[in-house]
Amino acid sequence: MLTSYQLEKPALSWGEDGAPHSNQFDDVYFDKDSGLEETRYVFLKNNQLKERWASLQKSAFVIAETGFGTGLNFLCAWQAFLNDAPSDKQLHFISVEKYPMTKSMLANALKMWPSISDLSQQLIDAYPEVCHGFHRIELEQGRVQLTLWFGEAQDGFAALDADVDAWFLDGFAPSKNPEMWSDKLFHHIHRLSHQGTTCSTFTAAGIVRRGLQSVGFDVRKVKGFGQKREMTVGLLNTTTASLTERMSQGQSWFNLRQDATQEITKVLVVGAGLAGANTAYALANQGIQVEVWEQGNCIAGGASGNPQGMLYPKLASQDTPVNRFYLSAYLHAHRLYTRLDDSKQFWDACGLIQIPKHDKEAERFEKLLNDKLYPEAILQASKDRAGSLFLPLSGWVVLTRLCEKLLSHDNIKVSLNTKLEGLSPIKTADKVTGWQAQSGDNNSVFSHVVLCTANDTKALGVTPNTPDYPIRGQVSFINLEKAKAACEAIGESADKTDFDKVLCEFGYVSPSINGLLHFGSTYDLKDQDTQVREEGHKRNLAILESLLLLPKETFNTEDCGGRVSFRCAVPDYTPIVGPVQSESSYQQAYSTLSRNAKWQSNDIAEPITQLFINIGHGSRGLISTPLSGSYIASLITGTPSPLEQKISHKLHPSRFIIRDLKRSQNT
Ligand SMILES: Cc1cc2nc3c(=O)[nH]c(=O)nc-3n(C[C@H](O)[C@H](O)[C@H](O)COP(=O)(O)OP(=O)(O)OC[C@H]3O[C@@H](n4cnc5c(N)ncnc54)[C@H](O)[C@@H]3O)c2cc1C
Ligand SMILES: C[S@@+](CC[C@H](N)C(=O)[O-])C[C@H]1O[C@@H](n2cnc3c(N)ncnc32)[C@H](O)[C@@H]1O
Repeated sequence: MLTSYQLEKPALSWGEDGAPHSNQFDDVYFDKDSGLEETRYVFLKNNQLKERWASLQKSAFVIAETGFGTGLNFLCAWQAFLNDAPSDKQLHFISVEKYPMTKSMLANALKMWPSISDLSQQLIDAYPEVCHGFHRIELEQGRVQLTLWFGEAQDGFAALDADVDAWFLDGFAPSKNPEMWSDKLFHHIHRLSHQGTTCSTFTAAGIVRRGLQSVGFDVRKVKGFGQKREMTVGLLNTTTASLTERMSQGQSWFNLRQDATQEITKVLVVGAGLAGANTAYALANQGIQVEVWEQGNCIAGGASGNPQGMLYPKLASQDTPVNRFYLSAYLHAHRLYTRLDDSKQFWDACGLIQIPKHDKEAERFEKLLNDKLYPEAILQASKDRAGSLFLPLSGWVVLTRLCEKLLSHDNIKVSLNTKLEGLSPIKTADKVTGWQAQSGDNNSVFSHVVLCTANDTKALGVTPNTPDYPIRGQVSFINLEKAKAACEAIGESADKTDFDKVLCEFGYVSPSINGLLHFGSTYDLKDQDTQVREEGHKRNLAILESLLLLPKETFNTEDCGGRVSFRCAVPDYTPIVGPVQSESSYQQAYSTLSRNAKWQSNDIAEPITQLFINIGHGSRGLISTPLSGSYIASLITGTPSPLEQKISHKLHPSRFIIRDLKRSQNT
């Protein structure tokens, strides 16, 4: 368990020529005269990337690197990929960094290379907040995907789910940084490699050569760059365990991968809410043709149709895999919304003030700030409201506009009034190779299907019995002028309705849009009423009055409008995202767990059937759906996952079957 998501800054000194030097390691990041040429020689040429890209069969090429530093190697690989690889291929670049530079350090360092300034600027613009964990960055409309792990190298690779084609083994001189080259690092380099994976490194140091040899790489010394005598290259020339086995690491029930990638013809995404729109967008950005079927007559007609939603994470006091998921998803969502809408048409990163609901919560907030679990860019003490938290990256979203924007992609076709009514597998030699989907008279064939159908999923009868359930929610809104008049009528300042940040306490209110203040919301269990109710407005007005520090009953329910929809909640507050597998095959294959909960297995109960779900986003869909969509896309395309493995296990649709098997040990 981590005690902080913050990372130590690199201690840098800058040469007169502007080149960064690491004081921690007493070494340079790159050669100031020939850094670009050295990268191209050591990493690109000695991994034969030009030749391999020219004849690339699969849809994506995966590079992994130790030590992101200034990102120079990445920028060179990106530039070369655009020149040398066919335009329908994708580059995935994964890198790890224990001492991440800040944006301004990066900008300062990359000034030295005007010939790649165009790409450098795009990297600087997209560079994530410095916070522990994985960060997925999409460039070139998704053709180039950068996955950064901020943290210790070996931990990042241990958490990674990917099949790497080439390794850039960078890092400071091994004599100055021997700790990085641990047995665990080499173990995971091997786990993430397949027969034919290559590696290269600027060093000829024995510690690196021996480490690579110990896990099976054929290693050779070759001529170094320029005046340097030697460097090292390697090739994994032995057969490796299957991809499913390498990724499952003894927990094959959380299997996510398939050994032979299934051809992707067309993917059906069912549901045009936040989950469906984000899934379709992530797939379309990877060059895949997507059809979206929505039973309603508009995009975002379910829970995702509320007029204004908040990007509002509940930051936990302790590090857990689920908290890491929400943290990583929060930063991902912030970056995506900012990229899609930097002119505040439907997204305003205005910040959010979280006001404590009671003394105990005030104490928790104080401890949270004192513990410094989160970087300051993510969590601060509010300057506006004493004792409250301030989340500068939060804000509000017009959900419908966001979903429309995500779905307005050339590779996406949306069919409204199209309810999925039947889904049957197409099998070849007992293996599922696609799905026949039926809506009315329409029968269509898809290679893959993703159900983003929230509370309607169970009715389809194709998923295991997951414990999600609906929770009714009513949001309310009031005309701003009427709200001001109501304040003045009781001698309060009308300015109380003018505020520039989202306010949260028992509920939320966001800065007005289109002359309306939106606030809410009710949380009604076992209540299926679809009608807006006056008592709901009453409860929401009480929330609003408390947030704006106004007396009770300042406002009148008659001045309110509202909307009712249903959250799809899960008892463990974690969405259900991943492949759908059959309950009976699980119970059969993993029955040993009911006798020995610590049992490990690499045997797969059944191959992935190309059917996925992405549901259960509860009250936080604006946070969780973009990263979940990106994750589903990685599973379908067989490309690196944006999630830590432990996190994907927490999201796995089969987790409930495994939990029940383990529990039955005690009964
Ligand atoms: C009152 C309220 C306030 C909320 N406020 C916030 C907030 O401030 N911030 C936040 O992050 N989250 C908030 N949420 C939660 C958020 O709205 C949800 O997490 C999110 O909208 C879920 O998206 P979804 O795509 O999973 O579900 P939905 O938006 O419900 O989409 C599911 C879609 O699937 C379609 N569908 C179902 N079955 C079929 C079928 N067989 N064929 C075709 N189509 C089908 C449905 O018609 C629907 O359009 C709130 C929720 C509520 C109810
Ligand atoms: C020579 S620099 C890398 C240069 C970089 N590839 C570039 O293109 O700019 C080495 C990097 O490795 C990082 N590093 C060193 N030890 C590490 C570790 N144990 N885990 C992760 N990163 C580490 C350093 O902080 C530094 O940024």
